[in-house]
Amino acid sequence: MPDLSRTGISLEQDLLAGFDKLIARRGYKNRSEAVRDMIREALLADRVNSDQPVVGTLTLVYDHQVPNLAQRLTEMQHESESEVIAATHVHLDQEYCLEVIIMRGRANQIQTMADQMLAMRGVELGKLVLTNSGASLTHDHHHPHTHSHK
Ligand code: NI
Repeated sequence: MPDLSRTGISLEQDLLAGFDKLIARRGYKNRSEAVRDMIREALLADRVNSDQPVVGTLTLVYDHQVPNLAQRLTEMQHESESEVIAATHVHLDQEYCLEVIIMRGRANQIQTMADQMLAMRGVELGKLVLTNSGASLTHDHHHPHTHSHK
């Protein structure tokens, strides 16, 4: 890990005890790694309404008997401004399909597309997870043309 900085924080004993219990349950070996992950998560969450580059994983459960729904979901992926890297379709049972769509693009575009899909009649459940490599959280790739490429 390059360029580590150390920082100290003050917090109430109760809060710290609760935090230690939480991170032990989640399997963290030390506070630093837990705090780093939480900061990464907060930085990603802050990007939802930005045009920063992210990778989005959208999980959908939908009723394939709803007319045109499956076709419309496929069309939206073809028409998307974000790049669909992979999509997996599983026929869950007689009625329901599970689809996992992995997209690369700008956070707000991916969020908008996910919102539109989740709002469609027949889409029963779903969740969008935005993620990225840790490196791109600390280095702004938003204006790659201003970087020097050697
Ligand atoms: Ni299916």
